[in-house]
Amino acid sequence: MGEIGRDGQAGGAHGGGPTRLWGGRFEGGPADALARLSVSVQFDWRLARYDLLASRAHARMLHRAGLLSDGELEAMLKALDDLDRACEDGSFRPTVADEDVHTALERGLLERLGSLGGKLRAGRSRNDQVATDLRLYLRDHARLIVSRLAELQTALISQAEACGDTPAPGMTHLQHAQPVLFAHQLLAHVQAFARDAGRLRDWDRRAAVSPLGAGALAGSSLPVDPRVLATELGFDSAAPNSMDAVSDRDFAAEFCFAAALAGVHLSRLGEEIVLWSSQEFGWVEIDDAYATGSSIMPQKKNPDVAELARGKAGRLIGGLTGLLATLKGLPLTYNRDLQEDKEPVFDAVDTLLVVLPAMAGLVSTLRINTERLRGGAPSGFTLATDLAEYLVRRGVPFREAHEIVGHLVVWCQVHDTDLDQVSEADLVRVSPHLTPDVREVLSVGGALAARKGYGGTAPERVAEQLAALRAAVDAAAAWAAAGGR
Ligand code: ARG
Repeated sequence: MGEIGRDGQAGGAHGGGPTRLWGGRFEGGPADALARLSVSVQFDWRLARYDLLASRAHARMLHRAGLLSDGELEAMLKALDDLDRACEDGSFRPTVADEDVHTALERGLLERLGSLGGKLRAGRSRNDQVATDLRLYLRDHARLIVSRLAELQTALISQAEACGDTPAPGMTHLQHAQPVLFAHQLLAHVQAFARDAGRLRDWDRRAAVSPLGAGALAGSSLPVDPRVLATELGFDSAAPNSMDAVSDRDFAAEFCFAAALAGVHLSRLGEEIVLWSSQEFGWVEIDDAYATGSSIMPQKKNPDVAELARGKAGRLIGGLTGLLATLKGLPLTYNRDLQEDKEPVFDAVDTLLVVLPAMAGLVSTLRINTERLRGGAPSGFTLATDLAEYLVRRGVPFREAHEIVGHLVVWCQVHDTDLDQVSEADLVRVSPHLTPDVREVLSVGGALAARKGYGGTAPERVAEQLAALRAAVDAAAAWAAAGGR
């Protein structure tokens, strides 16, 4: 029997007595076309470790139920450990004749134990097995993703800390709007990633329900207790309905959503870095290690990491919508359509685990051009709102204040000057309310300091925000590290 090809395609020829888990009532072997369509081992093989974990718990359960003797259990656990090592070191591999990971591992067990290997299948089905394996896999990988998120957040927080009170022109509609601390803008991204980490932690609570023991759909007539299995496998509880246990893929869809939204946040950060590193902005310079060159233009330094982060959001969104479409309209309980649940979630995991470290590296090595940011902060009349609010404090209705400052902005445009450059005489000409003390509010520092309400961009509020985020990120990282298997 040949091994699975690198292209992931398994051949259909089933010569040499393949292990099939359902051969009893069939006269001939399956058609090649069916085998090619049906095989999933080329992508579900990554569940092997989790399938073996569930098998150990199931073996102990059969022993407690009196269905395996002491000696049989010992031999079974030894064979499962041996198989685990062989999977790990690559000496045991799935072959083209193994329909899926469960089939391959049963073959491995039979190779080691002979007919005793066939006892493990009692009281369980691939339906509860695969749902259990996938939950175990995703719960582990959600933690890995949260720790990678924490690394990216830490990189952003450190940059925010390093740029201190550097102001930037805050934007709406990509137009200069009001001055902000650049740290405030960096921390806005950290907030989004904190919600992503929180979403995965919330998800984990709902995913911590074990389907094992549900059997094919109705539970087992053998004395197996799903709640004991659940505890052994680190779940919080066992599924209270065996039909729901084998057909529910909410956990997979919800995981894909959490991953897709994290992908959207990565994409938005990526887009900002693309802009910031452009000649036009000049806010940041990307380190050589995280930039690429052009094959024709020798001067180019391209922000490919940020662009790929932006681009890969598309496949995460696609995975989510594809999976929802697969689930829609399925009758209870297990249907083979459900085999289509794996590739989108695996792709989501792989995508995030390749994008997050690259983005963390990109961010932590960015050189921030604080002079350029500082110079840009007041440009584009970003202090206009402060001026209008100054007038309001002097009793001018905001509607009128807005008009006055609007006129002043036009005056500045016509005379090619900035708000803080207008002479006192010219100010009063525009409006008698614009007396000399108006200059006090016409500074970026004053504008920033004035926004000192909770959540605002005043330096002391941003410092508090930074400290709170550091604590939250450390807590998320600790959660991720604690749950690892
Ligand atoms: N490879 C299958 C899947 O991922 C395993 C479950 C197969 N169950 C069945 N009754 N054919 O869904």
